[in-house]
Amino acid sequence: MLDAHARGLPSRPGTWPLLQRWSLWLPPLIAAFYPFLLDAFHLRVKADGAVTPGSALLLLAMFVVPALGLYLACRADGREPGAIRARRLALLLVATPTLYCFVGVNLYMLGSPVADAWFWTPAWLLVALCASLVTPRASAGHTASASSPALRVAHGSAGLLVTLFVGFHLFNHLFSLAGEESHARLMDWGRQFYRAPVVEALLVAALLFQVVSGLRLAWQWSARGGDFQRLFQLASGVFLAVFILGHLNAVFVFARTWAGIETDWAFATGAPTGLIMDPWSIRLLPHYALGVFFILAHLVSGLRVVLLAHDVAQATANRIWWFGAAGAALVSLAIMLGMTGTRLA
Ligand code: HEM
Repeated sequence: MLDAHARGLPSRPGTWPLLQRWSLWLPPLIAAFYPFLLDAFHLRVKADGAVTPGSALLLLAMFVVPALGLYLACRADGREPGAIRARRLALLLVATPTLYCFVGVNLYMLGSPVADAWFWTPAWLLVALCASLVTPRASAGHTASASSPALRVAHGSAGLLVTLFVGFHLFNHLFSLAGEESHARLMDWGRQFYRAPVVEALLVAALLFQVVSGLRLAWQWSARGGDFQRLFQLASGVFLAVFILGHLNAVFVFARTWAGIETDWAFATGAPTGLIMDPWSIRLLPHYALGVFFILAHLVSGLRVVLLAHDVAQATANRIWWFGAAGAALVSLAIMLGMTGTRLA
């Protein structure tokens, strides 16, 4: 006989087995220690004076954290309240690198006297403790309701507008491979369009709409789960929601309003110390790298859904997705190499 899980029904409240509770406290516990990876990288790179195999491994570990989040989200199979909560906590873990930047910028503006980790780590440990103690129960948020088609269409349509800007913006950042001056020249040219007051207001409104509608869709879909590509779409969406809020906050609130500084090459790359050697700015490396990767791969995930809706075979749609995701990773790598000093000529 099929159990409640197999039939996709919520199990009785309070029956989430004690043995599976690890999937609730593990994501916040991993998130709690993320800042120490950054600190360890900084100590190592400072001691070595350059990136060596040891510090490269620590750099890689920064990317393993969101990858673990995605893995745990895929593992949290089922539609019981416990599985849904585990999935959502794992999706939040994916957003750790960008959330840490967001928190850091705001604590800096608030003039926090303590290191960011003193705020971050206890907060996540508290989440881990609550997650391990509070038994997940069925609630409205645990209902595996279908997402509204109108919301999905609106999210996709506004996404097209945003894509125009992002296409140029990332192309601009690729020019860092040609040097700071080339990057600045292209940015100056683009600014006459995207910094025109009407365009800028529309762009910010479209991005905020993407954040709100995307989080709503992610909440609905995370109650249902899905295959790897579907969970990747959710994970990249959750990351991007935090990334967009954090990036807009850094550009418009922190730089242009609070600090009154130019949002130029120096701002983006943490000059003069740079992204790699600065103990604060190192957090921007995974934040930017994953921001670029996830926005491109998220678009490819949307394309996959459209292809499937038009009866393209799942194997073909998945192959296209893998090619697209690999391309997104290459673009991200190229931009990060450019921003950290690699030059093509
Ligand atoms: C390597 C990754 C990225 C870097 C280094 C970066 C850096 C910057 C910089 C320096 C600016 C200021 C531009 C100016 O003053 O003209 C900016 C603005 C902006 N960025 Fe990014 N960005 C990155 C990725 C993204 C992504 C993935 C998005 C899309 C969600 C995005 C959205 C925006 C928006 C909306 C603005 C405001 C544009 C305006 O001034 O009106 N950025 N970014």
